[in-house]
Amino acid sequence: MATRRRVLGAGLSVAGVGLTGVSLLPVFHAYGSTTGPVAEPPVQPFSEPMPLVPVLAPVSTAHGTDTYEMTMRTVSRSILPGLQTELRTYNGQFPGPTIKARRGRPVVVRHRNELPVAASVHVHGASVPQRHDGAPMDTIAPGAERVYRYPNKQAHASLWYHDHAHHVESENVYRGMHGSYLLTDDEEEALPLPKGDFDVVIGIRDAHFDTTTGALVYRMSDRARTTLLVNGAPVPHFKVAARSYRLRFANHSNQRFFELRLEDDSDMVQIASDGGLLPRPHATKSVYLTSGERADVVIDFSRYPVGTKIVLRNTGFGATAETGQVMRFDVDRTAEDDSSVPDVLRTLPRLPKPTAQRSLVLRMDEDGRPDPQAYIDDKLYDPGRVDARIRAGASEIWTVTNANAKAPHNFHMHLVQFRVRERNGAAPGPEEAGLKDTVRLLPGETVTLQATFDTYRGEYVYHCHMLDHSAMGMMATMKIT
Ligand code: C2O
Ligand code: CU
Repeated sequence: MATRRRVLGAGLSVAGVGLTGVSLLPVFHAYGSTTGPVAEPPVQPFSEPMPLVPVLAPVSTAHGTDTYEMTMRTVSRSILPGLQTELRTYNGQFPGPTIKARRGRPVVVRHRNELPVAASVHVHGASVPQRHDGAPMDTIAPGAERVYRYPNKQAHASLWYHDHAHHVESENVYRGMHGSYLLTDDEEEALPLPKGDFDVVIGIRDAHFDTTTGALVYRMSDRARTTLLVNGAPVPHFKVAARSYRLRFANHSNQRFFELRLEDDSDMVQIASDGGLLPRPHATKSVYLTSGERADVVIDFSRYPVGTKIVLRNTGFGATAETGQVMRFDVDRTAEDDSSVPDVLRTLPRLPKPTAQRSLVLRMDEDGRPDPQAYIDDKLYDPGRVDARIRAGASEIWTVTNANAKAPHNFHMHLVQFRVRERNGAAPGPEEAGLKDTVRLLPGETVTLQATFDTYRGEYVYHCHMLDHSAMGMMATMKIT
């Protein structure tokens, strides 16, 4: 039965938020730098409308290719009321504009770098030739241009693009260089899922504002990134019709983990993960997204009377009262709805017989030293070193362990969408039954995944997608030959 939820004002937010993650907070922060707690939220929660991220128009659609142009530049924008915030952006937009692509139709993007720093554009989750992967050392100098070509031969997926320039990516992404790249195909489009205005990207990230100047404060492992931004707006509301929506949640945070749930603990239906639709829809009370992960859910707001306001909460690792509310859905009208969620969304091929196995250990300094470093197999990232040699066509099992007692990590591979075989020795849940490119590794966890290298050869990185960690060294190179 639908329940009318009481609207919680900012002053009541502490009482209104369940603190599932709060006992973990001291350890989560033990390895990072510390700053004083933020007493007042810099904005009244739910006062701003959630922006819809504009879709970028191609400059040409000739020759079966969609060609786009983007300029990376610094702009000032108002994010907090009455203050200007300097951002590093794609096309002056925050977040960057959405690119909509179609399987079999290449996309070309000409990027011009008008920032004062090097940049490199990586489409996260995409299978692309090495020179178009936005590798950490393969950067665009300030003032220079570069053309990236994306073949889009892979299946549909909610991908995203972001900066990847070695040692500045964590700051560049934090300062605004992230956007969505939605790849569709006939298989996905044939399904009766919510479409058009009812298919909405919701990119979530955190930020630390200097509440006097409005500036974004960047420090590695900063615990004071406690203002959550949704499509660029702080803890906004989103007016929805009483019908089904496909919400494409994406975690664009440098290193915050989100566990998203509706405040009435009612079900959402997860239909997709990083690499596109799940085999079957999965009704769940929460969706866990570590940095870089995506999950599409369908929520049927027709179960709520018009006038209902439902807060989307965060109970992920390290969540506190300040970061426990993400946004609010305000059901403000009725609408027709001919969408539905089929029982079978997709058939994934059986995993091929693995041809190799390897194990990796993620670990970072967590003894409180001022300048922690982060390692894969006890080594810092060295762009001149190949860490894993892979035969083209191989299908490999990788067992990845987080050896830290306190620090969470996750694990992202370029080039491939992999399958999760085991989580801590058991079969993964239905939310991990699809294709993945980034996987959660809470302290002490082990995940076994299988990746098949049957597309491009060359050198690609894999890393923890807590970008402060990869910038501290938790990244390595695989070479497919
Ligand atoms: Cu989101 Cu190396 O990537
Ligand atoms: Cu990490």
